[in-house]
Amino acid sequence: MSCEATSRHKGRAVIVPLLFPLSLCTPAIRRPTPPRPNTGLLLLLSLCPPSPPTLRPVPDDLTPEEQQELENIRRRKQELLEDIQRLKDEIAEVTSEIENLGSTEERKNMQRNKQVAMGRKKFNMDPKKGIQFLIENDLLKNTSDDIAQFLYKGEGLNKTAIGDYLGERDDFNIQVLHAFVELHEFTDLNLVQALRQFLWSFRLPGEAQKIDRMMEAFAQRYCQCNPGVFQSTDTCYILSFAIIMLNTSLHNPNVKDKPTVERFISMNRGINDGGDLPEDLLRNLYESIKNEPFKIPEDDGNDLTHTFFNPDREGWLLKLGGRVKTWKRRWFILTDNCLYYFEYTTDKEPRGIIPLENLSIKEVEDKKPNCFELFIPDNKDQVIKACKTEADGRVVEGNHTFYRISAPTAEEKEEWMNSIKAAISRDPFYEMLAARKKKVSSMKRH
Ligand SMILES: *[C@@H]1O[C@H](CO)[C@@H](O)[C@H](O)[C@H]1NC(C)=O
Ligand SMILES: *[C@@H]1O[C@H](CO)[C@@H](O)[C@H](O)[C@H]1NC(C)=O
Ligand SMILES: *[C@@H]1O[C@H](CO)[C@@H](O)[C@H](O)[C@H]1NC(C)=O
Ligand SMILES: *[C@@H]1O[C@H](CO)[C@@H](O)[C@H](O)[C@H]1NC(C)=O
Ligand SMILES: *[C@@H]1O[C@H](CO)[C@@H](O)[C@H](O)[C@H]1NC(C)=O
Repeated sequence: MSCEATSRHKGRAVIVPLLFPLSLCTPAIRRPTPPRPNTGLLLLLSLCPPSPPTLRPVPDDLTPEEQQELENIRRRKQELLEDIQRLKDEIAEVTSEIENLGSTEERKNMQRNKQVAMGRKKFNMDPKKGIQFLIENDLLKNTSDDIAQFLYKGEGLNKTAIGDYLGERDDFNIQVLHAFVELHEFTDLNLVQALRQFLWSFRLPGEAQKIDRMMEAFAQRYCQCNPGVFQSTDTCYILSFAIIMLNTSLHNPNVKDKPTVERFISMNRGINDGGDLPEDLLRNLYESIKNEPFKIPEDDGNDLTHTFFNPDREGWLLKLGGRVKTWKRRWFILTDNCLYYFEYTTDKEPRGIIPLENLSIKEVEDKKPNCFELFIPDNKDQVIKACKTEADGRVVEGNHTFYRISAPTAEEKEEWMNSIKAAISRDPFYEMLAARKKKVSSMKRH
């Protein structure tokens, strides 16, 4: 039966909507439902609730044929409604299956994300354990490349922890370090730009040996990305340190002596395997640092500055006597790896000199506030090598097995301790750098 056939009859107004109820629903199709096979028809059906079967009496002004036809139409309608219901049931089933499928997938994903987050947390507390956890849970492959990638992305990772992991002496960690550095792209960056990028990707740890390995890897990578800029990796390495120290000299308020560009240039004479670097290059690097200091992550003040650059410091402190245990107010100056103390700020000659070599420092409790102590580790009875000037002008050896000092404020105590620690620990670093300088300056340029 076609609609043309039915429209000829008077009953058309009734019949047509019954035959084509679906067409009336078309505008409602746009509903955000996930696409699935055969959506068109199924959706259409699911959206169009069939009207309840109506058992209207057959109008008696119809011919028997027409009545018969109407009966047929009604039966057909009933069948269609049943079909529709069946399809709706099927749709409901498929939909719930799809939803279940989605939620198990989702659940798996959520579970995975949770574990990754836990791995990151563990990593931040103990990098090695965090990596192990991620590997054991199949969240990370145990290859230096994959781990390096994970650290380089750094999502949710503490940069101090990244630095600790990359700094480990273990062969495998060193492999990861190299893979990590390889992920950095330095092509066409000048050395300062490259250093900015590198030093921001993790927090450089404090130990000289670790810094040495990391900066060596950096210099290799920089030279690989920019062939021809430096004669050797050593040159790049030395200049990198010169720049980091320049950063401190120019921007750390504790450093009074700010080098000029000329001094920076002359400080870097002969480091290009015996030759000089182009002045323009050095000038550019100097200007770049002068205009914008390096940023390092987790900058808590205990930065590279304290690691290998000892800013001079001076101020009033109280010092406990060696023989006579009285507190004397002294003007202290920290410089050249020694602690000098004076009676007055204007004195030419110090009352005493304490070389910091081989000493340790710790906080101590005393009746005086903000105390710290200098001592010889593992030998608390040994007298510290130091000298002092007696009242009559004679210079004599000191008689301290420890020096106890009190600062006026907790903040100053902290600052003094940091500076002294830096002064004590900077030696290995200077030796490291000095060795390289000797190497490059003795080289003949080819
Ligand atoms: C990853 O591999 C390294 C060396 O290939 C191995 O020393 C280390 O134990 C492995 N770590 C884990 C968690 O399997
Ligand atoms: C990262 O770890 C260091 C050392 O454990 C901590 O001092 C620092 O606050 C941490 N940084 C963040 C952003 O949590
Ligand atoms: C550069 O100097 C600034 C200011 O003293 C300091 O915060 C920063 O940590 C320094 N950066 C490096 C890499 O030493
Ligand atoms: C520090 O220790 C080294 C090695 O033990 C020794 O040679 C040096 O003289 C000591 N320096 C001072 C100032 O005590
Ligand atoms: C150093 O002090 C101790 C007591 O603390 C004393 O016995 C010793 O004689 C003193 N040594 C010198 C060289 O003054």
